[in-house]
Amino acid sequence: MHRLNNKRILLGITGGIAAYKSAEMVRHLRKAGAEVHVIMTPAACEFITPLTLQALSGNTVHTSMLDPKAEAGMGHIELAKWADAVVIAPASADFIARMAAGMGNDLLSTMCLVTQAPIYLAPAMNQGMWLDVATQKNCETLTNRGVKMFGPDEGYQACGDVGPGRMLDPEVILQMLAEQFDTGLLAGKKVVITAGPTREAIDPVRYISNHSSGKMGFALASAAAEAGASVTLISGPVNLETPERVNRIDVTDARSMYAAAMEHTENSDMFIGCAAVADYRPETVADAKIKKDPNEPDQTMAIKLVRNPDIVASVAAKENRPFVVGFAAETNNVIEYATDKRQRKNLDLIIANDVSDASIGFNSEDNAVTLVGPDFEEPLTKSSKRLLANQLIELIARYYNETSEPASDHATDVS
Ligand code: C5P
Repeated sequence: MHRLNNKRILLGITGGIAAYKSAEMVRHLRKAGAEVHVIMTPAACEFITPLTLQALSGNTVHTSMLDPKAEAGMGHIELAKWADAVVIAPASADFIARMAAGMGNDLLSTMCLVTQAPIYLAPAMNQGMWLDVATQKNCETLTNRGVKMFGPDEGYQACGDVGPGRMLDPEVILQMLAEQFDTGLLAGKKVVITAGPTREAIDPVRYISNHSSGKMGFALASAAAEAGASVTLISGPVNLETPERVNRIDVTDARSMYAAAMEHTENSDMFIGCAAVADYRPETVADAKIKKDPNEPDQTMAIKLVRNPDIVASVAAKENRPFVVGFAAETNNVIEYATDKRQRKNLDLIIANDVSDASIGFNSEDNAVTLVGPDFEEPLTKSSKRLLANQLIELIARYYNETSEPASDHATDVS
C-alpha cells in the first residue's frame, strides 16, 4: 500500500447500497497515506451522508456543480487537475451509462470529462443490470477509452439475487489501485529535510545570517516527495514556494530549527541536513535597537557569540535515529574534510560541496557535488539543483534501501 502514500485520490460515489463501503475505502486510503477528495452524486447522498465522508476524508465533500461556496474553494476544474487518479466506487449502471454517453449532467460526470487522470470504476449493481447488454456495451465503450474496471465481484446481492455485480471489497479495490502506481524508491518513508539559512538576532532589527537560498534543500524535498516519501521541510527564512505534497515548517533561528528537527525526526526514516545553520549566535539579544556609542574610544563594538547546537549531529546521536545525510560546504580539501565530518558527526552519507567556485553552491542555480559514503565516493557533475536533487535522492534512496532494515509502516493511521 506504500505506493498510495502521498497520492491524490478523487473518490466518486454514485447511488447504490454499496455506497456504505466507500466510507471504509476512504479510511483505508488515508491510512495508506493518500490525500482524498470525495465527490458524491445526489443519489449517493440518499445512501450515505456527505458528513460521514467529510469526517473520514478530512476534506469538504463535493456534491454539486452549482454550489458557489464549493467552487470558491476547490472548483470542479481544479479538482479534476488535482487528482492523480479517479476511483468511482460504487459505479452504478446509470452512472456508467452516462459516462459512456459522455454526459456532463452532474459534478462527477463533468469531472470525468475534464480530468486527465486515469479513471477506475468499481461497478456495483444487481446481476441482471450488470449482465444486461446495454451495461456490457457501455463498459466496453469505456474500456476502449482507457477506463479500467475493478470487478465486479460475484455472490449474494443485497436484493437477494446471486450473481455478478457486487462491488469488490474496499481492500481489494485499494490493492488494485495501489498496483497502478510505480513503487517510488522512498514510497511510504518519512523524510525530514532542513533547508535555507538561519538568522541569529542581535537586536530587534539586526541579525547574523548567510547567503544560503534554500534552493538545494527545497529541490531535495520535492524529489523525495516525487519518490513517494512523506516530507517535512524545516526551512529557515527563504523566498521560495513550498514544493507540492511537502509539509513545510518555517523557523528563523538555529535553536528553533533544532527543536523542530528533534521533534519531527522522532518517528522518521531519513533526515537530510541541508540547512546552512549559523554555528554561533549572539550570547544576548538586546531588547531595543542598539545605538552607536558616541564615547567609543576606538570606534569598535564587540558581540560575544556562543555556539549553536549542531542539528545534524544531534539527530544522528538520537537513540532511535533515522538514516542521516549531511552536507559539507568546503573551499579546499573538499573530500578529505567531508569524509572527516561524516565520521565525526556519525552520518550515514555526506554530500560534499566545493563552495570556492562561485558558479555552484550558495545562492546559485547550479551545483556540483560528491556523495561520500563509508566506502565510496560518487561525483555528480555540475547541473541544475533540481536535476542534481533527483540524482541525489535516487542514489541516497538506493543506498538506504540496500543498507537499512525493512522499515515499519509510518503511514497515518486514522482508525
Ligand atoms: O560543520 P558544518 O557546518 O560544516 O557541517 C555541515 C552540515 O552540518 C550540514 O549538513 C548542516 O546542515 C549541518 N549543521 C547542522 N547544525 C549546525 C551546523 C551544521 O545541522 N549547527
